[in-house]
Amino acid sequence: MTTSFDDAILSLALARVAEQAALACRPLIGRGDEKAADQAAVNAMREELNKLDIQGTVVIGEGERDEAPMLYIGEEVGSGTGPAVDIALDPLEGTTITAKAMPNALTVISMAPRGTMLHAPDVYMDKLAVGPGYAENVVSLDMSPTERVEALAKAKGVSPSEITVCVLERPRHEATIAELRALGASIFLIGDGDVAGVMHCADTEATGIDMYMGSGGAPEGVLAAGALKALGGQIWGRLLFRNDDERGRAAKAGITDFNRIYARDDMVTSDVIFAATGVTQGSLVEGMKPRGDFIETQTLLLRSSTGERRLMTCRHKVA
Ligand code: FBP
Repeated sequence: MTTSFDDAILSLALARVAEQAALACRPLIGRGDEKAADQAAVNAMREELNKLDIQGTVVIGEGERDEAPMLYIGEEVGSGTGPAVDIALDPLEGTTITAKAMPNALTVISMAPRGTMLHAPDVYMDKLAVGPGYAENVVSLDMSPTERVEALAKAKGVSPSEITVCVLERPRHEATIAELRALGASIFLIGDGDVAGVMHCADTEATGIDMYMGSGGAPEGVLAAGALKALGGQIWGRLLFRNDDERGRAAKAGITDFNRIYARDDMVTSDVIFAATGVTQGSLVEGMKPRGDFIETQTLLLRSSTGERRLMTCRHKVA
């Protein structure tokens, strides 16, 4: 039985949860049905989580209780014994890319001691992230895209044209993209999946990406903050509200300052374990591959307190 959050078995168990979610949605890759793929991942993730000896509360989940019957915000998961933990999850990060069999779909889950993760409502978040090795607050959400690139280029000792920024390709980012192009920066556009987008900043040498900017889901922001806490790098997020309903969701989640900028360690205040399994082929982890009677998964498993980074390949017997 798992007795404490520090137990190494707990992180291995979390990797298993991510793997099982990926395996469950594998038959739905490229089938054009986003909902079915997401549902398969949700069901499997919930079933596996409930096998763990934890007293878990979903703080980042599939939505509010009235709109998500499973893994909703506030749902209690686990056997009810063992450490009290917060759980942030996105059973299928990249539903559209899974349905279209495009790269970088992941199953994502993270866990931290109870009360240490931001209860981000399901609204948008303006995000900015850079990799490790820069001074604290080298860039900020209050800077324009131009100022951010110039500040990062100066800190890196290169010209703005040598900076690559990852941006989610959306109409709402057209002005940002135009501004970055006018400056001569390189833009790495992604169609979906900004958790991976942010994580790419942590290994610029491998990915070529220096900075992430733009708005995406706030829950994904908290998941990305947990990953960067383990990988190194900084992320800032500010919640964006389009209407009173969204402000109401934030108030319900306990948020009082609607303009606050959250730094990485405001979003995840303590030790965190993070696991992500590749669903489709990706740049962080490989997608699932058939190997005879087995399916091979690859999972990235991180723990912030130790900085441990495991890339785990596992063969699962096909039922
Ligand atoms: P889903 O897996 O829930 O479809 O989310 C994919 C995603 O691209 C996230 O990575 C990102 O934060 C969000 O959608 C952006 O939202 P939108 O598609 O509304 O711009």
